[in-house]
Amino acid sequence: MAVLDVLVYPDVRLKKVSIAVTSFDEALRRFLADFDETLHAMPGCVGLAAPQVNYFHRIALVDVSGKPGIPHNGRLLLINPEITEREGEAVGREGCLSVPDYTGNVVRATRIRVRAQDADGIYREYACEGYEARAVQHELDHLDGLLFLDRLVSRRDLFRRKVYR
Ligand code: NI
Repeated sequence: MAVLDVLVYPDVRLKKVSIAVTSFDEALRRFLADFDETLHAMPGCVGLAAPQVNYFHRIALVDVSGKPGIPHNGRLLLINPEITEREGEAVGREGCLSVPDYTGNVVRATRIRVRAQDADGIYREYACEGYEARAVQHELDHLDGLLFLDRLVSRRDLFRRKVYR
């Protein structure tokens, strides 16, 4: 297993639209092992999308279980994900491994249902709310070549930071 390099803005590859996963084979399993290790090597990081590690397939991993006191589904591996329901709206601060120097305010749905395949290609559906719902929407944007920078509430809703956390 290996920790993969993360593409950093303004790398144009972050704008690519990723393609669907069609083979749930050994090559996918090997990628998923490295992908998982990469997310967990980043302290405080709650999600990662495959295109961020230069693999342009529709795969995202979200794990907000390390944050205290919020509802979550544990480690959420989402392959070919689709949001099937969204409800509510809230502004919240987001960061991204691919945008290490900034955070920004973005509007997201507060409750979603997301349908996705797991590592074996089985379809599953998850209900997410609050912080986890935000993290899922952020990661799914990466699959369409979008960053939180593309969704800022306003130009004043961008904040410089010194360290990633
Ligand atoms: Ni991100």
